[in-house]
Amino acid sequence: MIDTQATKLLQRELSTAVPPGDLIFLVNGHRDGANYAASRGATVLNIINLLTAAGVDYRNFRSLLDFGCGCGRILAGWEHLIDGSTKLHGFDINPTLIEFCQKNIPFARTAVSSYFPPLPLADGSVDFAYAGSVWTHLSLPASMQWAGEFARLIATGGIAMVSYHGSYFAPTLAQNSKEGSQQLEERGFYLHLHGSATDTFDGSNHYATFMTSAFMRQLFAGFEVVRIYPGVSHGPNPFASYQDIAILRRI
Ligand SMILES: C[S@@+](CC[C@H](N)C(=O)[O-])C[C@H]1O[C@@H](n2cnc3c(N)ncnc32)[C@H](O)[C@@H]1O
Repeated sequence: MIDTQATKLLQRELSTAVPPGDLIFLVNGHRDGANYAASRGATVLNIINLLTAAGVDYRNFRSLLDFGCGCGRILAGWEHLIDGSTKLHGFDINPTLIEFCQKNIPFARTAVSSYFPPLPLADGSVDFAYAGSVWTHLSLPASMQWAGEFARLIATGGIAMVSYHGSYFAPTLAQNSKEGSQQLEERGFYLHLHGSATDTFDGSNHYATFMTSAFMRQLFAGFEVVRIYPGVSHGPNPFASYQDIAILRRI
């Protein structure tokens, strides 16, 4: 389902500068500025179309939260779709990425956050919170605590959109890690560390988290599942490539 009004608005040029390649690499794993630039509006359109197909109208949102916003790839894409009465929040643990957001995306309120909750936002103050490729890097305690924080922040009837390494990645994991695949099957959750923990930090892309949709449902207690878009049938897409995408409603 295509939102033609949003498609038209997203044809307008974005005023946000494109970050240097090293920042792009931290969030997207490549350094291609043109590809990154094009993905900003395309991702917001992707979000809107997935919401619309699930029966959710993004125009009702007055307070949006981009959790793990990186250097504001998705935040930048909202420029022509929100007016001054809509709050657009972004948080990330990486100060370099947030510094870029603060200098270049004046219509978003961005700040550095900690690896664990809370965020400095009031209970029930968010209508729509999304996280693109963030639960894909969180430990089990962080995954659980952030799901709880989403439940605290999102107003009743509000929406969460979360991506995770799911249906598309399970066969790849089975090929590469017997132990990982077994853990995923038995527990519904598996955290893989590329390299050594001493060479990296919590939340970095060296951590790859996998989960089943059944596990995701348990994690997001307090939400009903509106729709799950499996990566196997809906990837690649600009929001989260081949990851599964869950749309959840706060009950
Ligand atoms: C793969 S990047 C995706 C960035 C952005 N969502 C996008 O799609 O362009 C993952 C981001 O999550 C951030 N992150 C990881 N753990 C976090 C946490 N506990 N709280 C906030 N941000 C976190 C990382 O710093 C990084 O910017």
